[in-house]
Amino acid sequence: MDKRKIILDCDPGHDDAVAIMMAARHPKLELLGITTVNGNQTLEKTTRNALNVCQYLGIDVPVCKGMDRPMVRPALPVEERVHGESGLDGPVFPPLTKQLDPRHAVDFIIETVLASDTNVTLVPTGPLSNIGMAIRKEPKILEKIDEIVLMGGAYQHGNVTPAAEFNIIDDAEAAYVVFTCGRPVVMMGLDLTRQALCYPSVVERMSKNDNPAGKLFTDLMKFFCMTQKKTFGWEGGPLHDPTCVAYLIDPTCIETKEMYTEIDITGGPSHGRTNCDFFNLMTDKPRNSKVCVKLDVEKFWNIVEECIKLYN
Ligand code: RIB
Ligand code: CA
Repeated sequence: MDKRKIILDCDPGHDDAVAIMMAARHPKLELLGITTVNGNQTLEKTTRNALNVCQYLGIDVPVCKGMDRPMVRPALPVEERVHGESGLDGPVFPPLTKQLDPRHAVDFIIETVLASDTNVTLVPTGPLSNIGMAIRKEPKILEKIDEIVLMGGAYQHGNVTPAAEFNIIDDAEAAYVVFTCGRPVVMMGLDLTRQALCYPSVVERMSKNDNPAGKLFTDLMKFFCMTQKKTFGWEGGPLHDPTCVAYLIDPTCIETKEMYTEIDITGGPSHGRTNCDFFNLMTDKPRNSKVCVKLDVEKFWNIVEECIKLYN
């Protein structure tokens, strides 16, 4: 069966790092490259973190640095409370030797999509600045994009403001471009990702996999669980970004609902909100998104462990 070609656009970040691990080796996926963006930490740090994860796991794909700020407004503060000063505190990596691909992330996305012999799926797990810029710079890529499977938004409660989730509000204008581009968006919002709670028992389970991916997962999640407990009082933190890759590997692990979603870019108290017509009754607008509503938690962790075992 043909592998699904994907580009992972991310801001590592602990959950992004697990998404990289999952996307790089699964037989159903062909990871064409990784692009980095400012988000959880500065662009320099998210990029270094992506390179470190690839080097540690022996992942040989291009890593391209992207936007160091949103398209229009100033960036939100980085999230050191959760991800630490480096953006990937916890694991200790050997000296970094993996080289950055010299292309800008936006150019890499455009070149790679246009050059691909089959359509590509974009998988953004950070602010959407690179994706928005690529669509605006070269709209021709849209005819070769199957889907945009992204982590972001919420049809219920945000995590930066009551209304808005980080990846969307950090560059709401870029999100507006993405949700109005005409290609199907699969939205892994907080409503879904808050079901993927990485409890210490999950870390214990994955730590039994004696290979680099098992160790990386364990080192990442021990730190992540500690900061979730310290910052929010949670026993288990939501492992947001890997839900995108789990969906690509086995879509039956997630229940979706088609609906119209629009991004609030008005700059008011709900700026950056994904306004979802959940009942498809409030607007007569086209259903531009598959919004994810329910996670089969057992299947999800089995997929994560299946990916870890691929590094034996
Ligand atoms: O709101 C959660 C999202 O913001 C996750 O993708 C996390 O990694 C950060 O990018
Ligand atoms: Ca992320």
